[in-house]
Amino acid sequence: MNDDYGNFVKQFKRKTGIDLLLYKEAQMKRRLTSLRDKRGYTSFSSYFEDFQKNSSLFYELLDRMTINVSEFYRNRKRWEILEKKVLTHLMKGQTRLKVWSAACSTGEEPYTLAMILQKHLPARQIEIVATDIDRNALKRAEMGVYPESALKELPAEMKKKHFTYEDNQMYKISDNIKKCVTFKQHNLLADQYEKKCDLIVCRNVLIYFTEPAKKYVYHRFNESLKREGVFFVGSTEQIFSPDQYNFEFFDTFFYKKVI
Ligand SMILES: C[S@@+](CC[C@H](N)C(=O)[O-])C[C@H]1O[C@@H](n2cnc3c(N)ncnc32)[C@H](O)[C@@H]1O
Repeated sequence: MNDDYGNFVKQFKRKTGIDLLLYKEAQMKRRLTSLRDKRGYTSFSSYFEDFQKNSSLFYELLDRMTINVSEFYRNRKRWEILEKKVLTHLMKGQTRLKVWSAACSTGEEPYTLAMILQKHLPARQIEIVATDIDRNALKRAEMGVYPESALKELPAEMKKKHFTYEDNQMYKISDNIKKCVTFKQHNLLADQYEKKCDLIVCRNVLIYFTEPAKKYVYHRFNESLKREGVFFVGSTEQIFSPDQYNFEFFDTFFYKKVI
């Protein structure tokens, strides 16, 4: 790592608490350098100096760093397995569920969970904690208003039941779904983890982390789950040798806590 980027990483950590060293370096550096160049800076030190004075420059970089892409029912087949197989397993002998949607971005994932769970449980028996490092994404999640493109995988009957059309091709999610979800800011690489979860959904963020950072997260998630609880990962994020984290294979992209 060159000194300019290395110093920037240290300053960025002091300013935000986010340790860029825990993200894959080549990818992260490429993304941040291309934005820096686009804004006309030739070094990270001059770029950093300016975002001390110009918060929009800073938030733009934060936005580039986090990558908030999401959609309802992303990889639909997996959600079908979640509904048919995982929920049946989790609801054996209990009628309340605590779910953690970690790195939830703008809310499409926790709201998808709420829509599915409400088919099987009354809203008061569903607790979904949805977290992300990015406060701006969480603000949008709390608003619950989405462009049509975010809903393209959503089954038509669910769209009809849980959304109202606003205008400009935007759709608002119902209060009945919203009330199952609590949003909180949380850094997976620095903050305390949730406890006693039945299900943890964490998709499409671990791909950006280094191997040691991923291992840290797998161990912490295992501790956050109840025994027999399930961990649901993204479709490029299968865990090799899940037993080293006390998980066992449950279905493709789903792992069950064994200890
Ligand atoms: C591509 S989105 C994934 C959204 C959703 N889980 C999905 O699969 O559709 C990645 C999210 O991870 C969040 N993120 C990145 N680093 C994080 C960290 N250290 N702790 C928590 N969230 C993080 C970003 O802010 C972003 O919203």
